[in-house]
Amino acid sequence: MSPNGSREFLVTVFAPILAQARDLINRALTPGDTAVDATVGNGHDTLFLAECVGPTGRVVGFDIQPSALTETTRRLRDAGLEERVKLLLRGHEEMTAWFAESASLPRPKAAMFNLGYQPGGDKSVITRPVTTLIALASALELVVPGGIITVVVYPGHEGGRVETEAVLSWARAVPAHRALVACHQVLNTRKLGPLLLAIAKGS
Ligand SMILES: C[S@@+](CC[C@H](N)C(=O)[O-])C[C@H]1O[C@@H](n2cnc3c(N)ncnc32)[C@H](O)[C@@H]1O
Repeated sequence: MSPNGSREFLVTVFAPILAQARDLINRALTPGDTAVDATVGNGHDTLFLAECVGPTGRVVGFDIQPSALTETTRRLRDAGLEERVKLLLRGHEEMTAWFAESASLPRPKAAMFNLGYQPGGDKSVITRPVTTLIALASALELVVPGGIITVVVYPGHEGGRVETEAVLSWARAVPAHRALVACHQVLNTRKLGPLLLAIAKGS
């Protein structure tokens, strides 16, 4: 590999985890697709997904905190993209039920999970394994063949280690013919860094 080639490889592998998640999602989505933001939070990922799906696509976002939806509505309105997004004050564990009620909407091509607490918000409101695992199973079922799910999970916060272990054991048990799961984490930092799981559904 040429020196330039290897440098490019390093930039990709050591890019911030959230940027890597977006890169994977961006490669999967095309204009007109449906995408799910399973954890809306401050709406950075929702806005990113709205840009990826274009004016004819749709994004469905779930969060259990009104503050998350308020902040995200403002962000989308500032960008003029609120028409493409349906924000729901519902837990992501209700994803299957919501899509069943909204049968006219095409099934999602991609789903993003960014677990933990809302940055700048109430740190006691965190994603929990019991509901996260229901939502992951729902997303795997709902995403179209060839679609992708990204999961960023943080072992460093209160409750995060247990959730990380739960997500990893769920992921290891996904049959490979259904979806391939890859995991990425920088291992040698003082504070344990986040993990990125990329779940590619078979076509
Ligand atoms: C790390 S934040 C998400 C960050 C966000 N994607 C962004 O771009 O700013 C995690 C979010 O998950 C939300 N959350 C917790 N439990 C949830 C559940 N059962 N369903 C949906 N969202 C949940 C929290 O309220 C919090 O806003």
